[in-house]
Amino acid sequence: MGFFITLEGPEGSGKSTQAKMLVSYLEEKGYQCVLTREPGGTKIGETIREILLKHSPGPSIVTELFLYAAARRQHVDEIIRPALEADKIVICDRFADATVAYQGYGRDLDLEWIRQVNYLATDGLTPELTLLLDINPQAGMERALGGREPDRMEQEAISFHHRVREGYLELAQVESERIKIIKADRGKEEVHKDIRQYVDEALQR
Ligand code: TMP
Repeated sequence: MGFFITLEGPEGSGKSTQAKMLVSYLEEKGYQCVLTREPGGTKIGETIREILLKHSPGPSIVTELFLYAAARRQHVDEIIRPALEADKIVICDRFADATVAYQGYGRDLDLEWIRQVNYLATDGLTPELTLLLDINPQAGMERALGGREPDRMEQEAISFHHRVREGYLELAQVESERIKIIKADRGKEEVHKDIRQYVDEALQR
């Protein structure tokens, strides 16, 4: 069986850059990696992503939950599980924790519903290691946008993004073995160094 790593965090936390840097690091060490993202990673998932982030009018809150979940299940079935079965390291930019943080804490949906929907969506698959890149939402949003137009989620009030961050931090407290908090308001090399340490440690276990 391979190894499943996810990156999470508020908008502008630098997950995508860090995910790429991590893949380069691991490939240099000789590991075979699959880099992917949610929502997305498959043709169906990328089509759902367009609806989730661009469609106007946007989906209702529960439909939004189902769409993230639908993209996730397709991703697990088509990409993630087969890659793990082929002994690869899967590095995924967001996964089920994002649904807890955004739809649970951000949208205030019932956390028990989220747990059940996530169970179906992930087929019970849990990452071995989750790197939570933590950043103040205000700073993150400035970094994320840098002049471009915000997508549908980014357009939410800053209070929404504060709740998302709190959600992530609470998750990390409850699951401190799996979820590692990394301060993301630093240079990318510094952040990468911390990530490397956690990943090396986890791969040795
Ligand atoms: P990204 O900006 O990291 O590519 O993620 C896309 C957006 O989707 C981001 O605003 C977070 C949001 N999102 C959710 O609300 N729930 C989820 O389950 C996932 C995976 C992402």
